[in-house]
Amino acid sequence: MRTLADIRSTFLNYFKENRHEVVASSSLVPANDPTLLFTNAGMVQFKDVFTGLEKRSYTRATTSQKCVRAGGKHNDLENVGYTARHHTFFEMLGNFSFGDYFKEEAIYLAWNLVTKNFALSPERLLVTVYHEDEEAANLWKKIAGFPDHKIIRIATSDNFWSMGDTGPCGPCTEIFYDHGESIAGGPPGSADQDGDRFTEFWNLVFMQFEQQADGTRINLPKPSVDTGMGLERFATILQGVHNNYDTDLFKSLIEASTELTGTQAAAYRHSHNVIADHLRASSFLLADGVMPSNEGRGYVLRRIMRRAMRHAHLLGAKEPLMYRLVDRLVEVMGTAYPELTRAQAMIKENLKLEEERFRQTLERGLRLLEEETAKLAPTQALSGEIAFKLYDTYGFPLDLTQDVLRSQDRSVDLEGFNAAMAAQKAAARAHWSGSGEKKDEQVWFDIQQEFGASEFLGYESETAEALVQAIVVNSQTVAHLSAGQTGDIVFNQTPFYAESGGQEGDQGVIHFANGAQARVLNTNKHLGSLHVHHVTLESGRIKVGETAKLVVNGQRRQGLRAHHSATHLLHAALRRHLGGHVTQKGSLVAADRLRFDFTHTKPLTAEEIKAIEQEVNLQILANTAIETHLMAAEEAIASGAMALFGEKYGDEVRVLKMGQCDGAAYSIELCGGTHASRTGDIGLVKILSEAGVSAGVRRLEAIAGIAALDYLRSLQEQISKLSFTLKCPSVEIPEKIDLLLQERKTFERQLADLRQKMALGGSSGTTVAGLKQIGHINVLTKNLVDIPAKDLKPLVDQLKTEVKSGVIILTSVVEDKVALVIGVTADLTDKVNAVDLVRAGSEVLGGKGGGGRPDMAQAGGSNPTEIPAAMAAIEAILS
Ligand code: ALA
Repeated sequence: MRTLADIRSTFLNYFKENRHEVVASSSLVPANDPTLLFTNAGMVQFKDVFTGLEKRSYTRATTSQKCVRAGGKHNDLENVGYTARHHTFFEMLGNFSFGDYFKEEAIYLAWNLVTKNFALSPERLLVTVYHEDEEAANLWKKIAGFPDHKIIRIATSDNFWSMGDTGPCGPCTEIFYDHGESIAGGPPGSADQDGDRFTEFWNLVFMQFEQQADGTRINLPKPSVDTGMGLERFATILQGVHNNYDTDLFKSLIEASTELTGTQAAAYRHSHNVIADHLRASSFLLADGVMPSNEGRGYVLRRIMRRAMRHAHLLGAKEPLMYRLVDRLVEVMGTAYPELTRAQAMIKENLKLEEERFRQTLERGLRLLEEETAKLAPTQALSGEIAFKLYDTYGFPLDLTQDVLRSQDRSVDLEGFNAAMAAQKAAARAHWSGSGEKKDEQVWFDIQQEFGASEFLGYESETAEALVQAIVVNSQTVAHLSAGQTGDIVFNQTPFYAESGGQEGDQGVIHFANGAQARVLNTNKHLGSLHVHHVTLESGRIKVGETAKLVVNGQRRQGLRAHHSATHLLHAALRRHLGGHVTQKGSLVAADRLRFDFTHTKPLTAEEIKAIEQEVNLQILANTAIETHLMAAEEAIASGAMALFGEKYGDEVRVLKMGQCDGAAYSIELCGGTHASRTGDIGLVKILSEAGVSAGVRRLEAIAGIAALDYLRSLQEQISKLSFTLKCPSVEIPEKIDLLLQERKTFERQLADLRQKMALGGSSGTTVAGLKQIGHINVLTKNLVDIPAKDLKPLVDQLKTEVKSGVIILTSVVEDKVALVIGVTADLTDKVNAVDLVRAGSEVLGGKGGGGRPDMAQAGGSNPTEIPAAMAAIEAILS
C-alpha cells in the first residue's frame, strides 16, 4: 500500500530528480500576506517570487505545504467530520516554475508522475481545461494521447485560479480520477458533477497574470507554474478507498482515539473524524506559534480545539483526551515535519490546559443547551440569546453550538446571536468612561471596539505584512498620513512589541505596498491590547486599508531580549542571595541597559553584588533552553511563578522558565516580554551600580549582551590610555598612581617651605616694610603675594619667635583676594588684641570682619588695592 508518507516522499523525490529545489513548508501563519488568516495553498510562500518582487537562487521548487482552511474566506470547519473530503488542516503537494518551464513541461511532468511512478491507469484519468486555453487542450492530446471527450472545457472560475482578490492568477487544468460506474456522479461540468465518481486530485495553474486591486490584470514578468495536489485526497485513490478518513494516516489517529476512549470507530464515526482532523490542525497551529485566545487566529484555534473537545466528551472521555493523541500524531507526521517533533511537549501542554479549562464549563453549557432545546418544537431554531449566553458564559464558540444542534436538525437564530453580541458591545461602550486621565483614551476605545485586539506576531517573527486599520493624529482618527507627518497607526497584526512590563516598545520601518515608507519611533500599548505604532512618514502618502510590510529593528530587539532575560536571572539571584523578601518594584528593559528596582532595606555589600553577578553568569554559561508555557493565571501563580509588579494578567498567562538549579528551573516568572531562546544568548551580565531609590527600595543597573561587551571595551580603552600616559604596563597602574600621589605630597610640602623661606627672606621684593616701632611696640608688616591663607599662620608663629615681642601683620594677595593675619606675642596680649586689629583692617579691605584669639586673628577681603589704607588703619590703633 502507498502510505501518505510514501506518496509525499515519492512526489518530492520525483521533482527533485527533475531539478526542483525541495523547499520546506512555510508556516501556517503567512509571513507575506496581511489579509490571509492562514496559509491555504502551496503557492502562498512564493507569491512575491511569481510577481518578481523576490528573487530566489532557484527557478523550480517543490513542496509539501501545510494548509489550514478554517475561520477565513475558505472555511471548511462546519463540514469537517461529516463529509469524506473536508479538512481544517491538509497537506498540499506542489511543483512550481518561476519563469522556467511552462505549460508543456508542467503537463508532461504531471502525466509522467501519475501514470508511471504512481502507475494510475490512463483509462481512469481525464482532465479539464479553461475554455479559452486551446494550447493546454492540444498539449493533453499530444502528451497523454487523450481524445477530445476526455478534455473537458470549463468556462467558469473553476478553471481560472486566483490567489485572492489580488495577486498571481491564471488558467488552470485539473486532473480527475474516475472511480467507475459503481459510484454515483457525473463528469466535471455536468449537472451531477458533485457526486463521488469523479475525483479532482491535481490542479495545474498556468500563472500568467497579476490581478490588480482596480480589477485589471497585468502580465507576470514571466509565465510560471503553480500546482497543487491534495495529499489526503490522492491517497484515497492510491489506497482504493472513498473517504479521506479511511487512509492509513487517519486510520492510525482514529485507532488511537478509539483505544483511549474504548469506543468503536464505526459507531462514532463523526466524532473520531473530527478529533483526528482537529488534532492535526491544533497541533500544527500550536507548533507554528498560534496560541488559543479570544481574538483572531487564536480564536480560530480555540474553536477548532473546543469543537474536538466536545466530541471527546461525546465519546465519554472522563479525562482530557486530545493531548494524549499527540504522541501518535508525531509518530506518523513528525519525520516529514520536524517542527512538530520539536514542539511535541509544548503542544501536549497547551492541549491539556485548554481541555482542562473547557471541561469546567462544557458540561454545564451542554445541560443548559439540553434544557433549552427541550422547550423547542422539532427542528425549531435555538434563540440567538441562548447561543450568545453559551458563548459568553460557557465558552462555547458559535460553531460548537451549531455542531451540537446539527444532530437534531436545528440551527441557531444568527440574527439574534449577532444582536446579542452588538448589545453587549453597546453596553460596554455606555459604561466606558476611561480613566479620565488621558484625553486620547476614547479614540483607542473606539478603535478597539471596531477591530478588536491587535494580533501580536513578534514572539515568532520580526517581520510581517499587515493591513492599516486606523491612523490617529492628535487623538483623532484620520483617513490619510502624508510625507513628513507624525502619527499613530494600528494594524490588524504586527511583529512590533508594544511597551509593557518594563520592556521598551520596538522600533523599525514600515514599507507600504504603495511605495511609501515610515519610521517607527516607538510602539505603545493602549487598553492592554492595541499595539500602536508611533511613526513618521518619511515618504509617500498612506491611507486606511493600505497593506504594508512591517520590519522590526532586529539588532535592537536582540538587545531587548538579552536584557529582559538578564532581568529575570538577576531577580532570581537577588532572591536567592538576599532572601524571599525581595520583590520587584519596577524595571526598565532597554536595548542597551536594564534597571531593576526591588525591596531590600540596606545597601548590598561588594561581596553580595559579586556573588549575584557570578551566579547569573554561570546560568548564562550553562546555556539551557528558555521555556515559555501558556498557563491559567491562578495556576501559574500557585506554582510559584513570580508575578510582575503592577501588571494586569488575563485568564491565560505566559510563564517563562529560565536556567537550572537543583533539578528545577532557576527562575519562573509570568511575563509577556520577548526573550532569548537559550540563556547563552544573553552573552554576559555586568552589574554597574547599586543604590537606594526610596525607603526600603534599592536599584540595580546592569548591562548584558553586546552592550556589556561595548562597556568592557571602553574600559579597556581607558586603561590603555592610562597605561600609555603613565608609561607602565596596565597591571602596574595602581602602584604608579600611589607613587605619583606620594611624590605630589612631598612636592607640596617642599613648595610650602620654599614659599615660607621666600617670605621670611624678603628677597621677593614684596616686603614693603621692615621691623618698626610704634609707640613702644615692635611692629613687623609684610605684604606678600600668592601665599595661600592657610600658610600665613605658621609664618606668623615663626616671625613671633624671631621678633620675640611685638605685633606681626601679614597680608597675601591670591587671585584678587587678600588674606590678613595678625599675631601678637604673649607678653603684649593684655595691651593689644589681634582680633581688634584684624577687624579694623578687614573693614578697609572689604571683608566681613574676621575673627580669632587675642594672640592670632585672621580676616579676608576683596580689595587688595586698599592694603596701604588697611595698614594705616591698623597702625592708627597701635599708636
Ligand atoms: N494554487 C493552486 C490551488 O491551490 C494550485 O489549487
